[in-house]
Amino acid sequence: MKKIIFTLALMLGVVGVAQAQGDIEAGKAKAATCVACHGADGNSPTDMYPKLSGQHASYLAKQLAEFKAAATGGEGRANAIMGGMVMSLSEQDMLDVAAYFASQAITPIATPEEVIEQGAALYQGGDIERGVTACMACHGPRGEGLESAKFPSLSGQYPSYIAAQLKMFRSGERNNDPNGMMRGVAAKLTDKDIEVLSQYVAGLR
Ligand code: HEC
Ligand code: HEC
Repeated sequence: MKKIIFTLALMLGVVGVAQAQGDIEAGKAKAATCVACHGADGNSPTDMYPKLSGQHASYLAKQLAEFKAAATGGEGRANAIMGGMVMSLSEQDMLDVAAYFASQAITPIATPEEVIEQGAALYQGGDIERGVTACMACHGPRGEGLESAKFPSLSGQYPSYIAAQLKMFRSGERNNDPNGMMRGVAAKLTDKDIEVLSQYVAGLR
């Protein structure tokens, strides 16, 4: 009997995981309050707001949950604007809007010629002397990230947003990266590195 209950619980657990998926169509409707800043298809019209299109759903859902956690007094990702925006979203709403924006194509950004050499060297090889880990190890050769690990995609994102996030990881103001993965890397970056890398990764594809 114990074994049967255990098996049943396992099965229910599996069913539960299978249901924790976003619905693209439902997400599109629920994203109505997001489009003013992030654009109807997640390609934010200005670089004051990050693009959400083409980003991994797992990463987007994590950010939404963490904006809410921080806004309600817990640990997470503190941001005054986004904290307010996610307040009324349920966990399912977050999965749905994440699935919707993930399904949209991101508009590409061109890399300025002058950052390619230095950007590629740091991105692909890091800097052993200074202890900078290669970004590519987690964000992939084309800046595509990794859905299963919640490593965000970077390609096509606005350089000003990327630079701002790197500076926030460096100062510790943003601290929702598991095991301090990004804080550890960003701590070793100079302003010049950040300027070069933010333009370089935006143009990866
Ligand atoms: C008033 C403008 C505004 C609205 C409306 C808005 N956002 Fe945002 N959003 C922002 C800003 C600003 C940031 C960047 C926050 C930061 O710098 O950390 C952001 C960041 C995000 C991020 C993190 C992106 C990343 O790459 O880490 C997600 C996800 C997001 N918004 C989703 C949403 C969703 C979903 C909605 C609708 C429910 C929404 N936003 C509505 C302004 C807005
Ligand atoms: C050990 C793995 C790892 C390495 C190496 C790494 N990152 Fe990250 N990065 C992450 C993770 C994980 C996150 C998401 C943190 C979270 O969950 O909010 C992230 C987030 C980011 C973000 C924020 C994206 C957004 O949409 O807000 C930027 C920008 C970024 N990384 C750039 C870089 C750059 C540039 C380098 C190289 C100097 C680098 N990363 C190296 C794992 C890594």
